[in-house]
Amino acid sequence: MTASSLPPFWALIPAAGVGSRMRADRPKQYLELAGRTILEHTLACFLDHPQLRGLVVSLAADDPYWPALACAEDGRIQRAEGGCERADSVLAGLHRLAELGAEEQDWVLVHDAARPNLTRGDLDLLLGELADDPVGGLLAVPARDTLKRAGADGRVQQTVDRAPIWHAYTPQMFRLGQLHRALADALVSGVAITDEASAIEWAGHAPRLIEGRADNLKVTRPEDLQSLALLWRQP
Ligand code: CTP
Ligand code: MG
Repeated sequence: MTASSLPPFWALIPAAGVGSRMRADRPKQYLELAGRTILEHTLACFLDHPQLRGLVVSLAADDPYWPALACAEDGRIQRAEGGCERADSVLAGLHRLAELGAEEQDWVLVHDAARPNLTRGDLDLLLGELADDPVGGLLAVPARDTLKRAGADGRVQQTVDRAPIWHAYTPQMFRLGQLHRALADALVSGVAITDEASAIEWAGHAPRLIEGRADNLKVTRPEDLQSLALLWRQP
């Protein structure tokens, strides 16, 4: 499929987290890897895509790091003010996208700021596979390891069938109106929402799983940064 036959889309990058599990001196999206911050690598995955209609990054209100980046001056990037939880940051970004002209039926791809190794191939696969989907979906990776269910005593209670288990990655691709309603309703109801798909599921829909690359890693703990550094050092 050529790039021009892929559907137009908007990108939303929630980057308002503090990265507590990383235990670094700054939020992990501002740690450096191969000469640039993680956030800059992540933004670069989208910025030159021919079907991109606009991009919003949700930042913490008191973020002192963003203004120092060259991309803060990039006219293609708009800002929204993030919130306490990831879902709040995503909702704020959706509002901003609507202000920029995104319409109810437009596709929005939400992608973690801390996931800088998304390939163009995976991005185009997601766009192509879901172009005509009534719901949307997400990049995901089938579970590889044998899974155990633990009992309260810390011993194995059961070996779980791995076949239907997937890890949810991003981007997650949904229509602006449907995602906005699902997130807003879920938040009002007090449901725990850890990704966009869970809000869509809560609203009664079934997002499609699109198998992506396992190395579309989210930097969560210090060793993840080391894995990425090694990966990018390979020829
Ligand atoms: N995020 C956000 N707003 C929040 C919380 C998270 O925009 N209130 C973003 C993060 O910046 C990150 C993405 O959501 O790009 C995925 O979240 P996660 O990996 O959990 O990042 P943090 O919340 O920053 O890390 P931690 O949970 O370890 O504190
Ligand atoms: Mg978090």
